[in-house]
Amino acid sequence: MIVLGIETSCDELASRRHLEVILPVIRRALETAGMGLDDVDGIAVTQGPGLVGSLLVGCSAAKAVAYARHKPLVGVNHLEGHLYAAFLEGHPPVYPFLALVVSGGHTALYLARKQGRYERIGQTRDDAAGEAFDKVAKLLGLGYPGGPVIEHVARSGNPKGIPFPTAQMSDGAPDFSFSGLKTAVSLHVKRAGALSTAQIADIAASFQATVVKMLVRKTVKAALRAGIRHVVLTGGVAANAALRAALEAECGGRGWQLHVPSRRLCTDNAAMIAAAGHDRLEAGERAPLTMNAIADLALA
Ligand code: KG4
Ligand code: ZN
Repeated sequence: MIVLGIETSCDELASRRHLEVILPVIRRALETAGMGLDDVDGIAVTQGPGLVGSLLVGCSAAKAVAYARHKPLVGVNHLEGHLYAAFLEGHPPVYPFLALVVSGGHTALYLARKQGRYERIGQTRDDAAGEAFDKVAKLLGLGYPGGPVIEHVARSGNPKGIPFPTAQMSDGAPDFSFSGLKTAVSLHVKRAGALSTAQIADIAASFQATVVKMLVRKTVKAALRAGIRHVVLTGGVAANAALRAALEAECGGRGWQLHVPSRRLCTDNAAMIAAAGHDRLEAGERAPLTMNAIADLALA
């Protein structure tokens, strides 16, 4: 089954820009695949979560194509898409698996029991990990998006240079919190005054190491508690090499399998939406043409 995936939840671009480029992008995707719309068996589109204005552009385009060409349509949760990125190449994960989804909008742990059955067992209580990267990059004057720049700058810094605090949940829940760390970085920057390149590198490296430590610790604890041996790391922040290496070391040491999509499939993309939609369409799921964007659509 060949599925056309459409993903417009990303809020870095205004919905107006999505509107301008959506049809040329669909045309180019088909051209690259050497196909026409007639070869497509179904349409999958991100229904949420995300900015409603951006989501609506994708949903409207998907509905228009489905209606005009009599193609089955299915709405996909963006976060399920991120999980499906792990199925697009190499060794796909085996159910049940634990997934750490870390992006600019979300930081959560999901237990995937079987296809389409997810349980959220932990989430951030304040900022998403990617948001923390973006905010710290701004504090350091490094630009946007923060993740890739921080990762780059951190390479020449000392990850043990500054002992930033890791958040501990007083109730022991597998939840995350990054606002305390962000505040600690902000105070450190204020106290330090004018920063040298070397100081910026040390702050970036220490901040990154702290985020990685928090993410890895909670993930390992949750996997141990659930008796899980397959772990998926996905979402924009999963492009981070330090995070990939640290989680790989922890999983490998315990004989667990870690599944991480290649970097370009970790960040937002439509292939992951097509993959999730593929399984839903094959299971007989169909969305009516009255289907609409849902800004706060939950996965579990
Ligand atoms: O999944 P994604 O592309 O979009 C959302 O659904 O949010 O994630 C974007 C986030 C941004 O906050 C960006 O700074 C972060 O992922 N990111 C990274 C890296 N590449 C992207 N964070 C850390 N290290 C990276 N290499
Ligand atoms: Zn995303």
